[in-house]
Amino acid sequence: MASCWRGSKDGDGEVYHQASELYVPTGCRLIDRLVKPVRGEAILDVGCGTGRLTLELASRVGTSGRAVGVDLGESRIKVAREELAKRADDFPHVQFLEGSVKEAMAWGPFNAIFSNYVFHWFERSERLSIMQDIYESLTPGGRLVFCCLPSQTQHKFIEADIFALAMPGRDYESTLGLKYDSSAVWSQVCTQAGFSVEVCEEYDDEKRSPSLPACLRDLEASVPNFKLHSLKDEDFEFLKKRYGYGYGEEVVYDFKELVILAKK
Ligand SMILES: C[S@@+](CC[C@H](N)C(=O)[O-])C[C@H]1O[C@@H](n2cnc3c(N)ncnc32)[C@H](O)[C@@H]1O
Repeated sequence: MASCWRGSKDGDGEVYHQASELYVPTGCRLIDRLVKPVRGEAILDVGCGTGRLTLELASRVGTSGRAVGVDLGESRIKVAREELAKRADDFPHVQFLEGSVKEAMAWGPFNAIFSNYVFHWFERSERLSIMQDIYESLTPGGRLVFCCLPSQTQHKFIEADIFALAMPGRDYESTLGLKYDSSAVWSQVCTQAGFSVEVCEEYDDEKRSPSLPACLRDLEASVPNFKLHSLKDEDFEFLKKRYGYGYGEEVVYDFKELVILAKK
């Protein structure tokens, strides 16, 4: 299990909440294109972070349905619940659960299970068992839609360089616990669990972040003791030479994603 999430550091929730605003448009496109929520349905959002996309799912299923968001990060779920409390009248049918994907299965059955940028954190040894649990908790014909990273992206190269500058001697990939695999590998895991895979795509995307610090909020939110402000001017000069971005300038980076729609 990715150790940097459970019992996440103070402030992580608020920092991540700002960072995750960037993921909402792509997350919504995925929801509308592949999840296609129907009024009255029950939908689980695995690794919901601070719950932005859980609320998008909830507004699509309406109050005759329900949406559940689960996340390992204590401070992320705290922010999700605070945001929900502000809009309680509109979302009486939403629940947030602090725990692992496996713990959320007890809250089923679900018509659909959705997940945005989470599955690449799962241990390879646990994937099949997680997928089998997901399969069991879906109603017949239920769908699983997830999007995650198949490989190192330009964003992650920038992150890795900055990580090396800010935390010398610590390994980026193992500290974050990233485990990339292709769409073909993920499709096989789905099939082994009993699913029929209807969509399996890998594509290049481009993302924009208003500044280098904004682009790195994810890292600040996820890694204990990582402090962007510990970087010196010469570190930013180095980054500017390598990637062309100054500290406060907009960052445009390549992003490879994989998307799967699998049905029970
Ligand atoms: C990159 S964030 C994505 C958050 C959200 N889906 C979004 O699009 O903004 C990944 C999230 O997955 C959660 N996570 C990682 N492993 C998990 C697991 N085994 N069970 C539940 N949540 C998990 C982390 O706590 C983190 O908040």
